[in-house]
Amino acid sequence: MIKKLFRASILNPKGPGSSEFYDDGALYVENGLIKSIGKFDDIAQKNKDFELIELDGVVMPGFVDVHLHWVQHRVRGQYAGELLSWLKSYIWPEEARYINTNFAIAAAEQFYTDLLRAGTVMGMSYSSPHASATEIALQKMRGDWIIGNVLMAINAPDDLTDYSLHDPVLLKDFMARTDRIHYAVTPRFAPNLSAAALGMMGQIAAASDVFIQTHLAESRAELAWVKELFPDAAHYTEVYDRAGLLTKKTILGHCIEMCDAEWQCLAERGSWVAHCPTSNEALGNRRMPLEKLREYDIPFALATDIGGGPSHSMLHVMQRFLATHRAADIPVQVQEALYRGTLAGAEAMGRDSVAGNFMPGKRADFILMPAMDPHDSWVGWFESSLAGSISELEERPRGTWLSGEKIA
Ligand code: GUN
Ligand code: ZN
Repeated sequence: MIKKLFRASILNPKGPGSSEFYDDGALYVENGLIKSIGKFDDIAQKNKDFELIELDGVVMPGFVDVHLHWVQHRVRGQYAGELLSWLKSYIWPEEARYINTNFAIAAAEQFYTDLLRAGTVMGMSYSSPHASATEIALQKMRGDWIIGNVLMAINAPDDLTDYSLHDPVLLKDFMARTDRIHYAVTPRFAPNLSAAALGMMGQIAAASDVFIQTHLAESRAELAWVKELFPDAAHYTEVYDRAGLLTKKTILGHCIEMCDAEWQCLAERGSWVAHCPTSNEALGNRRMPLEKLREYDIPFALATDIGGGPSHSMLHVMQRFLATHRAADIPVQVQEALYRGTLAGAEAMGRDSVAGNFMPGKRADFILMPAMDPHDSWVGWFESSLAGSISELEERPRGTWLSGEKIA
């Protein structure tokens, strides 16, 4: 039995409006799992024969990023105007390069290294259409990820559609070789698949009970295109609903250009929204209407949407989450940013019994943040931790631990 007691200030998010904080706190970890959390004196007294690890700073759960494209990591922050022209000029040519195995291996190693350094320990990722690149992302995985080969049959270059596994036989064959816990059926977005193909994706996901991820209503031009392609659907959300793609295990990126009937539909299905404020700003899309998520009680978590988002730092996402909604006079608290970037992501991924915060029994996946001023409250400290440039935020975590082992 490996017993470790980590002594530090400890911040433990518990919900959108609640956290616990211990100034001189302890996390007691046995074989990589949290056994207890509390004041250092109490926890130290109740246990023995442990290795004591004293850390200078604040220990908090590692970040969870529920929507990103690992195959866009190298070109994050490059823009060519609107979403659709950006996809064509920057994103699709980059994704086509992932046919090359050695290129994909090097990129995957860099991706996981960068994310762990920035404090992200878990998330949901879109791969390129290629089976090989997706297998590489799964094999090289560091942390806990759900990954899908992006499915795209039409309205895209042949060097992507030719390798997409949207044929049900190919997709099922690939899924049979893949660990379901780490796999999501990933239709890229409605313009890349016919109604029939979307329906088949819905059936395959239901039969194997896996997660589903796709994009919904991110830009006005995309919405107009979907109306043209699916003229008999009442709205964009209905295109996915008819295909059986809206489940409790569905995570929908963006959800900006939505009408009330669509919010109602999402609420009824219990699907999750991945809210990507840095990407929305960078690609010139509108603000995601947080007030609608609240009105319809839609569950959501934060995400970078690399490479739409210019940075892989979830601290940057939290900073922009607070700033964009506050600028629109929508009140939003620091506590909520903390929850949406950690525990809510684990809930979206169905992993909240094993990750996302420091409740006993969960994996000891955590980061060390710089120490706080003894006179500050944790709320003031966390808000000030979110200030700074992208490069400062990416480097802010002082270390990252997975299952109680320091790995970055
Ligand atoms: N919609 C379809 N594909 C993409 C993508 O790769 N990034 C973003 N932000 N939106 C998309
Ligand atoms: Zn995306």
